[in-house]
Amino acid sequence: ARVHNYTWDISYQYKSPDCFEKLAVTVNGEAPGPTIRATQGDTIVVNVHNKLETENTAIHWHGIRQIDTPWADGVAGVTQCPILPGETFAYKFVVDRPGTYLYHAHYGMQRVAGLNGMIVVKVPDGIVEPFSYDEEHTVLLGDWWHKSVYEQATGLTETPFVFVTAPQSLLINGRGTFDCSLAPSGTCNASSPDCGLRPLFTAVPGKTYLLRIGSLTSLSSLSFEIEGHSMTVVEADGYYVRPFVVKNLFIYSGETYSVLVKADQDPRRNYWAASHVVGRNASQTPSGKAIVSYAFKGNNPWIPPPTAPPAGPAWNNTVIRVQQSRAIFAHPRFVEPMPAGADRTLLLLNTQNRIDGHIKWTINGVSLIFPATPYLVAMKRGMTTAYDQRPPSDTYDHMSYDISAPAPTNGTVRSPVYRLALGSVVDVVLQNSNMLNNKSETHPWHLHGHDFWVLGYGEGKFNPAADAWRLLNVRDPIMKNTVPLHNDGWTAVRFRADNPGVWLFHCHIEAHVFMGMGVVFEEGIERVGKLPPSIMGCGQSKGLH
Ligand code: C2O
Ligand code: CU
Repeated sequence: ARVHNYTWDISYQYKSPDCFEKLAVTVNGEAPGPTIRATQGDTIVVNVHNKLETENTAIHWHGIRQIDTPWADGVAGVTQCPILPGETFAYKFVVDRPGTYLYHAHYGMQRVAGLNGMIVVKVPDGIVEPFSYDEEHTVLLGDWWHKSVYEQATGLTETPFVFVTAPQSLLINGRGTFDCSLAPSGTCNASSPDCGLRPLFTAVPGKTYLLRIGSLTSLSSLSFEIEGHSMTVVEADGYYVRPFVVKNLFIYSGETYSVLVKADQDPRRNYWAASHVVGRNASQTPSGKAIVSYAFKGNNPWIPPPTAPPAGPAWNNTVIRVQQSRAIFAHPRFVEPMPAGADRTLLLLNTQNRIDGHIKWTINGVSLIFPATPYLVAMKRGMTTAYDQRPPSDTYDHMSYDISAPAPTNGTVRSPVYRLALGSVVDVVLQNSNMLNNKSETHPWHLHGHDFWVLGYGEGKFNPAADAWRLLNVRDPIMKNTVPLHNDGWTAVRFRADNPGVWLFHCHIEAHVFMGMGVVFEEGIERVGKLPPSIMGCGQSKGLH
């Protein structure tokens, strides 16, 4: 196994990813950052220099379980103190599973400012994957606002509340298109080489391509498609799936999929690759666009396709999205054996609440706020005043709660933790409910430090009585690290709490976790090795080592 060393300067730079000029948080001057490429079992070392001058940072390696390195998970407030301006922090971890993963800032809402990228982990030589292809490409999907992170975050905490609203652009590999005539003069340059329509890849007729697609949108659920071509889904979040064919792939923030695309269309022209917002009405957001071209004499990969860009599916068609979620099973030869039952079941009700005049998200009545001392340090060192000792509730009043009405009670803002027995099996049922505007929306939930089996998705209210369990797939569930909680429904997952550390589980919509939509799990803290002093220095960990 190899060691890959990276040195990253994190700094603000003027960027025009959709032609509108804006300060972006960059890695060595780039946004998105470079793709990390490694082989299963390799060690990654990233030396992060925070050159943001006035802003902290922390970087999370999304989908990497951090076995034996829980301090390298990169969540400010949970696994480390933020990296202060001028400071350097070294992340060191092993990529123990092949697949497609992501990285991004995990400090405030900094991810939306541009600090994100992909991690590609190949299988070792000699290991055969259950599919074949000629070449591979990465496709990182994003959404983009012209307002700064500060303006967005301030709006969320201010009274009256100002939501981040619809993104100005959708990005494909960090590029978008925006109609510059809508921007004040001098702020937008439609001919900037940084932005605009560009080739995604050039296909050789007859060849098969593996696209590693990841979404790090801040808000948007997306549909991705390549005009005229079907896609065969073969991998999800690092696990092989029973292959299935789609015209458009629904992908939620924090998810990755690998798809096979065969270059089997007329090679004399180009085709659209496009992303569209689904799940919320974003008619003001133009679709994300790029060009898929064919290597063919006389064909120019920069020429827009002769057809109109695809319109995308209806944004409010939940049925087809749930259907696609339900079509994902483990590949028959790669089913990860699942424990037959759980030691503990958490029923987690997601509600939007008004607390002290602020709009917050709560889980079983608790809106999560990160403590000044990171949980990992506080729990390992037994600092009982550094976080809230009162455990949050395992359940909610599921008999009488009306999920089709806005939350009747207020909830509290606090910093508790679910303490899980090391090695125990935990079922989590995420339950959606109506927001204060009496509508329900999709939330992609991401678990740090583990992968979970996806037991199933249902409509309405989950009924813990026997008949609800019958809807669950215990035969060949896929494992994932991120799963959608569809609007007006529930999602059930199972995992083994076998990774000593403290782990965040949260909605991957940046504004939502910022508004408290997450919970913290701890297991086996006594088994965590000696904490590196570099994660300390804030709150009660000042001066510790
Ligand atoms: Cu990619 Cu805690 O998130
Ligand atoms: Cu959410």
